[in-house]
Amino acid sequence: MGSNSPILRILDRILWNKLIITSSQAIYFSPFIKTSLHSRGRSANGILLGRVINSGRNIFWNPNISMSPHVVVVGPTGSGKTETLLSIATKMNSLYSVTVLMIDVKGDIKSRLERRGYFFNLIDVPRDPLGSLYPYYIDPVGRAGQVFESIVSSYEVHDIRAQASLYKAIKKAYEITPLPTWQHVMAGLIDGENPENVMISRVVDEIAFLDGGPHNIGHYSVREGVINVISLAGISKEREEMLSYAMNMVFHDMLNYMSSRSIDPKTVRGVLVIDEAWVLSKHGKSSNRVLNLIKLSRGYGLSVLLATQSFRDFGDSWDRILENTGVLIVLNTPSKRFWFDASNFLKISREAIEDLMIILGKGDAIIRVLPDPRPIPISLENDVEEPREGEKTISRDL
Ligand SMILES: Nc1ncnc2c1ncn2[C@@H]1O[C@H](COP(=O)(O)OP(=O)(O)OP(=O)(O)O)[C@@H](O)[C@H]1O
Ligand SMILES: [Mg+2]
Repeated sequence: MGSNSPILRILDRILWNKLIITSSQAIYFSPFIKTSLHSRGRSANGILLGRVINSGRNIFWNPNISMSPHVVVVGPTGSGKTETLLSIATKMNSLYSVTVLMIDVKGDIKSRLERRGYFFNLIDVPRDPLGSLYPYYIDPVGRAGQVFESIVSSYEVHDIRAQASLYKAIKKAYEITPLPTWQHVMAGLIDGENPENVMISRVVDEIAFLDGGPHNIGHYSVREGVINVISLAGISKEREEMLSYAMNMVFHDMLNYMSSRSIDPKTVRGVLVIDEAWVLSKHGKSSNRVLNLIKLSRGYGLSVLLATQSFRDFGDSWDRILENTGVLIVLNTPSKRFWFDASNFLKISREAIEDLMIILGKGDAIIRVLPDPRPIPISLENDVEEPREGEKTISRDL
């Protein structure tokens, strides 16, 4: 395309005139581009994210030299979130031989990897037990805390008395044996006879299903250096609390696993992929906890790739989550509402957004790579295929 192309003219106008640069960090744009984004050989520059729309320049991202190894993908249903996560995670695995754990809520990650011939270790919950009471790379007291905290936040147990009896029952179970089952916890609840225990017992009953039943003590295993997929597709999508609990425990498991490896925290050794991350953050209600987990991950060399449908899914913690995110990818969609919402969160003017909507097509996105606050329109480098018959998209009201 020549310089007379109207699209290129619009793009230049957007990129250089209309973006509202809100951060003083903009000054770092030039040196940053030179060190982190420009192509200077595969290994030095990391994974290929895509190509800049006006120049065709390749955009590489190296999680090991990035200000943060985490990635957030935002886009409404059908915009390409799962594809983008798959593309980044598989590239990280093949380029850096890192251990990848993907949480597959809908079962589509498993089927896409299968169709493309990837080797992966499938963990199919509840056939393979989640094993939430098992002290996975952590001492029993630490595990009791992780289980308690995950129940309280996923099931929104606000009542102090209910919290107290839950904690007592979990603690008591670990006092009886270092490898307790939910049966031990239930026994502790029956002791008390207070009304809160009825509600807690229901929760415990539900969670025991994830762990392969109230008498099971097994735990799934993560395989080093390969892609692991933990499928939650067998759990009803109506059970949002249960899904949230499972995601929380997997997050803890991955952190425990990473902490057991003696690694240089500056090098990414593990990747945790959380598609449908709004379930984890409980529609933004638990976003502060998600932020804390993300912050913790970095110190253990764990890169977290999150995808969600709306900016609002991270509630009040959005800005702080973004400060801890190396790459933000906002996927293109024909939805005006999405883009107008995005303009607030991306700090781009509405006028610029309207122009961008003309230019961006399917598979295009706006990305922001720390520390540069300026968004870059790119065509993503995703290895996509045609949708299959019956592979329907599911909306968030699942
Ligand atoms: N970069 C791309 N270029 C072209 N098509 C794409 C691209 N990314 C995804 N697609 C196609 O768009 C469709 C939806 O993609 P995907 O399932 O990744 O979206 P999603 O955002 O995860 O949707 P949902 O919210 O329903 O899970 C798929 O059929 C996929 O093949
Ligand atoms: Mg998806």
